[in-house]
Amino acid sequence: MHEPRRFPPHPELSARAHAQPDIYAKAAADPEAFWAEWAQQLYWEKPFTQVVDWQEPFARWFADGQLNASVNALDRHIAAGKGQRIAYYFEGERGDRRSVTYAELLQEVCRLANGMRKLGITAGDRVAIYLPMIIELPVAVLACARIGAIHSVIFGGFSADAIADRINDSGCVALITADGGYRRGNVLALKAICDEALRNTPSIKHCIVAQRTHEPVHMQAGRDIAWSALIADQPDTCTPAVMDAESLLFLLYTSGTTAKPKGIIHSTAGYLTGVSATHKLIFDYHEDDIYWCTADVGWITGHSYVIYGPLCNGATSVFYEGSPDFPERDRWWEIIARYKVSILYTAPTAIRTFMKWGDEHPARHDLASLRILGSVGEPINPEAWMWYREKIGNGRCAIVDTWWQTETGAIMISPLPGITHTPPGSATLPFPGLDIDVVDEHGTSVSEGVGYLVIRKPWPSMLRGIWGDPERYQATYWARFPHCYLAGDGARRDAEGHFWLLGRIDDVMNVSGHRIATTEVESALIEDQRVAEAAVTGKTDAVTGQAICAFVSLRGGANGSSELAAELRAHVAHSLGKFMAPKYIMFTPELPKTRSGKIMRRLLRDIVEGRTLGDTTTLADANVITELAQRAQQERASEAG
Ligand code: WT7
Repeated sequence: MHEPRRFPPHPELSARAHAQPDIYAKAAADPEAFWAEWAQQLYWEKPFTQVVDWQEPFARWFADGQLNASVNALDRHIAAGKGQRIAYYFEGERGDRRSVTYAELLQEVCRLANGMRKLGITAGDRVAIYLPMIIELPVAVLACARIGAIHSVIFGGFSADAIADRINDSGCVALITADGGYRRGNVLALKAICDEALRNTPSIKHCIVAQRTHEPVHMQAGRDIAWSALIADQPDTCTPAVMDAESLLFLLYTSGTTAKPKGIIHSTAGYLTGVSATHKLIFDYHEDDIYWCTADVGWITGHSYVIYGPLCNGATSVFYEGSPDFPERDRWWEIIARYKVSILYTAPTAIRTFMKWGDEHPARHDLASLRILGSVGEPINPEAWMWYREKIGNGRCAIVDTWWQTETGAIMISPLPGITHTPPGSATLPFPGLDIDVVDEHGTSVSEGVGYLVIRKPWPSMLRGIWGDPERYQATYWARFPHCYLAGDGARRDAEGHFWLLGRIDDVMNVSGHRIATTEVESALIEDQRVAEAAVTGKTDAVTGQAICAFVSLRGGANGSSELAAELRAHVAHSLGKFMAPKYIMFTPELPKTRSGKIMRRLLRDIVEGRTLGDTTTLADANVITELAQRAQQERASEAG
């Protein structure tokens, strides 16, 4: 991983960049003052006087202040005379287009918020949102924020069971969905999936259904209401709920190391402070920029950098519904050329997919408007970084590889585009005001070398906990090293102090930037009566970073077949979501175990990666693993041939 190249910032970019080199020293000298200054940029109903109150592991930021997140995203800009600015250029997969101004977005938010209030939804209630990438999604999110309800967005790829689990964990009172959505030319019947989920969700009183595909859907009397009917007679103004700085803004589920996802909770003021500061400084956002973060709002990147960050800064964003290869593989580049996108924020898995598709697709379009290119979700390999720089950025754009997590709320490690001399493949330095370190297994700081990534001081946008489970919060993040937040990633720090992220240190896979616990997939597999045991591991994949690989042993020592593998894949897709179905399934009479019965995952990882097997002396039966390794070897050989 030695990468000697460094790319200095473009002098023009440096000259007008919001972040100038003194920012690091200034923030380090007084981080609280640094953050307080950014918090003061928000619109406060009641200004705060306290900055941070830290009762490890619980932080409260700006706690005596009061504000409303939707006012910060919308009303503020209208009050400043910018109501006619475009908030979103919506681009439907099928080519339908619509631009939405800040004033229009506010009206839509207000009408839905009024409708939700009429249904009796109130501050502190949890509201699930399961929508495709249409404007109704930010509208629903901001309508919740307007009335102080806590939104819990569920990614549109999740299955009915996964929706029900998430709804039940936090006791959501309402679900906002759509008849369906478009993806790669197909119709996804979202409402039908919700109907299945809602059979097992006693807390849900209302289901609000937006229209996108206009296909007929089942509407249950007394529970389901069309979005259009709900807002039909609602005024387009709505008094915002005045919220305490620390009131919860949203819940977002992410995979931990167990089969039960964690409901990560974020509060209002600190989160908005973090996302607006990072959006402005890391993307060097200026008023004349056209910004496009390609993430789905179902993930944290969409929350922070499609909705709250850019809207708080009054940005104009592109908002695209569909997939990058519909109708052709140049769709994104066509969109960038049409809207003159200047800031693009996407994921390494997308970049590697485009590399595979070939340079001719971007080459056909005028990408000269681009000036900043962002990456997030997984380590970006130097080769993909260089391709991004050259083929998309024409050697001219700054690249910002941004490391962060659902839990951190906002970007934590990243170049600042006017300052940093960027080495391809490194997220470089902690954002100003943050105290991030690499430590060895004793918790001792490693100034140069490999270790665990930790955060030593609370930061405004940090998670406030796990919904309903403070013990798990403490145990997951704050127990391994005293007074340190454990990110769960390995990292290397080089002689210049640059951070190189090395992937997860736990049993969590990263597939196309999606976090998936091995245990989640395992427990779905063993739901099938024929499966005796399953062990899942990630296998390095040239496009998706990791691919899901499952080892399955069947009851009664039965033999597997490709039909059964297909059925198991379909079962996982149905029980969790399509994107969580294993790419590879390998049947084996036994899983490699220690004499005490513990599955040796380390060896399974060696097998899938084709590495020489590590220490096998503690195995109960060494034949199992040699046989598996041979078969994996044969499969690789036949794949290659
Ligand atoms: C995990 C967090 C944060 C938005 C998307 C994912 C990995 C994220 C990078 C990066 C290397 C990265 C880490 C992290 N990750 N960004 N730039 N370089 N790894 O959010 O689902 O909460 O996943 O994604 O492993 O822990 P998430």
